Amino acid sequence: MFAALLLCLVGIAVAQRPQPCTTPPQWEGRLFDINEEQKFRVEGKLSYDAVYRRERLVDEIDETTGEDYFDTIALFDQRVEFIYNYKARNCTRQEIRRPWRDFGIRPNDRSFGEAYIGSSVFPETGVLVTIWGGNFTTPTNDTIDYVSTWTYRGCLPVSRTTYSEKYGSSHLSWYDITVGISDPNVFIPRRECLTNFEWENRFTLFGTPNKKIE
Ligand SMILES: *[C@@H]1O[C@H](CO)[C@@H](O)[C@H](O)[C@H]1NC(C)=O
Ligand SMILES: *[C@@H]1O[C@H](CO)[C@@H](O)[C@H](O)[C@H]1NC(C)=O
Ligand SMILES: *[C@@H]1O[C@H](CO)[C@@H](O)[C@H](O)[C@H]1NC(C)=O
Repeated sequence: MFAALLLCLVGIAVAQRPQPCTTPPQWEGRLFDINEEQKFRVEGKLSYDAVYRRERLVDEIDETTGEDYFDTIALFDQRVEFIYNYKARNCTRQEIRRPWRDFGIRPNDRSFGEAYIGSSVFPETGVLVTIWGGNFTTPTNDTIDYVSTWTYRGCLPVSRTTYSEKYGSSHLSWYDITVGISDPNVFIPRRECLTNFEWENRFTLFGTPNKKIE
């Protein structure tokens, strides 16, 4: 029902049965994420690494609003995140309870076809996207429905809309995605977040591991 509604908004492109594409495992991009019901809004730059399951999000916020803004490094394999508060200039270390969010197309997702965002009438007025949706159940047993789009060429994430009875609807959009991680040290937490020992050994502890241990 929710998916059908979205499709009316997007417009339906009829095509042969599409194959899910594979999103690059490491990329960086600017995101805008909003949820009205939860009064939640994030604007920032994300470094995303699905190989070692880690994320860094640097909030971009208008300093004049007086709101707190953060630099968060989340290491899902170690289940720990470091949240640096720019205003208070301090860092909180906490256990990660939320599941890793994979921004690729999931194996059970259903195709909703392909469509142009913008237009295909003139050159460079649109981007062809592939649309997929599905649902998942959180550890707290809430079902979340989602519909997401990826660029048809390159399979880069474009947007994700989620809906659940408990959390309402959220919309996440990506901009200016680049493939790969530009700075290999981007997942090393700030000095304020680490003990003296951790800081001295930061490249071994938080740099890029040579090999993924399964
Ligand atoms: C950081 O500073 C804020 C404001 O001064 C304070 O409320 C908070 O408890 C501090 N957090 C840590 C981890 O020190
Ligand atoms: C979740 O998706 C599956 C198909 O992948 C579907 O059979 C099921 O009805 C959906 N569940 C809900 C609660 O929408
Ligand atoms: C999860 O929710 C479903 C339907 O809402 C219910 O049937 C099931 O028993 C719940 N499971 C747990 C572990 O609470």
